[in-house]
Amino acid sequence: MIKPILPGEVAAAVVDPVAYGHWDPLHEQLAWARANAPLAVAENPDHDPFWLVTRHADIMAISRDPQNFANGIRPTVLTNRDGEALARAATPNNDGHLIRSLVQMDAPDHMKYRLLTQSWFMPKNLKIVEERVRQIARETVEHMLSLGGECDFARDVAAHYPLRVIMDILGVPAEDEPRMLMLTQQLFGSTDPELNRSREAITSVEQAIAMLDYVIADFTQYFAALTADRRASPREDIATVIANATINGEQIPDREMSGYYMIVATAGHDTTSASTAGAMMELAKNPALFERFRAVDSDKAGLIEEAIRWTTPVQHFMRSAKADVEVGGQMIREGDWLMLNYVSANRDETAFADPFTFDPDREKNQQIAFGFGAHVCLGQHLARMEMRILMEELLPRLKSVELAGEPARVESVFVGGLKRLPIRFEVA
Ligand code: HEM
Repeated sequence: MIKPILPGEVAAAVVDPVAYGHWDPLHEQLAWARANAPLAVAENPDHDPFWLVTRHADIMAISRDPQNFANGIRPTVLTNRDGEALARAATPNNDGHLIRSLVQMDAPDHMKYRLLTQSWFMPKNLKIVEERVRQIARETVEHMLSLGGECDFARDVAAHYPLRVIMDILGVPAEDEPRMLMLTQQLFGSTDPELNRSREAITSVEQAIAMLDYVIADFTQYFAALTADRRASPREDIATVIANATINGEQIPDREMSGYYMIVATAGHDTTSASTAGAMMELAKNPALFERFRAVDSDKAGLIEEAIRWTTPVQHFMRSAKADVEVGGQMIREGDWLMLNYVSANRDETAFADPFTFDPDREKNQQIAFGFGAHVCLGQHLARMEMRILMEELLPRLKSVELAGEPARVESVFVGGLKRLPIRFEVA
């Protein structure tokens, strides 16, 4: 079977951070791929070839088959050839994973590590932290209302709230949050010249790896001190769970320990911020929608789920084939690398009626922004709860909201979303 090859411009767009920063043209390319070559190989000069998976059904099929589609073999996030080679040279066993967290693990390690914290993130347990989250939401709302009728909702509001929540649950004190925010943005959005450490465009792979190394060393040092503290004086937080956890009767090795902290500390805020800001943008553009959801007794679930589909903050993850497997009519060969493009899957015409319409009333919203299967987002219930509570606390306090300037998106292939959302609002 001959592998279908994507047209050069589609292949180039899906690896280009700038394309995700201005994503209407990107959506057109992805729609073309879904219709004409839903599973086809992207060939680019700087990257090893990979299958671009654009349809919802194919991403589901791959995600539900971790035996054949592994996370640990190749990078889980798109990395160019030189970057992977440098990362392999810099990591134990040349595995190329600068961080080894749940995301980079496969069976049997993956489930053992996941189970250490999974119950913390289940809806039943989250009820315990709900009041605390509401308190943080209220403080966030008061801060926004104090800004005098205009703000950059992405920067001034959405960027802080989920960070405060996850840091509270993790056990990181409020004074260290700016450091965590900066580190996460560097880790996830490091291709965006406005967000990376040096504030200049990253021009070489060496530069990118050096910056990541620096960021990871900073995180590791920080969490080593936290671990020592929680071993000496345990508390009711996730840091205590991680610091004192054992796998097969032994304490977690240092690399996996810092990987665990890093994934919990970073996975949950830029993502949730992006969906929160995306929800606000749609409300600011549509007064009828705003009126409906500012009613105290309005059910926010449909709004939240649709905002998550609409924004799809995690834009892709990669998988590596462990065997020859047929998916979507194509034969994937052992060793092949695949990009699960969630941005595309969440606009798939075969999975969603009218996918380019923001519709909080979708009957069965099967959005796949949290992934699917063994690695499905650990924090999905927390993300939904945070967004719901903020909307419950914020919307009834506003009389009106409208855009006050051009929104702008992060230029990143991995975690994307609004970095600027200027709005004007009246307090109720
Ligand atoms: C994994 C998206 C919020 C923690 C993932 C994955 C996606 C994702 C796509 C990979 C799923 C897969 O491979 O099938 C999102 C989005 C969020 C969000 C869109 C917000 C709207 C959170 C929050 C946390 C979190 C609040 C809290 C700690 C994690 C962790 C993993 C993960 C630990 C790794 C799970 C594993 O590999 O077993 N997330 N996430 N995420 N997420 Fe989230």
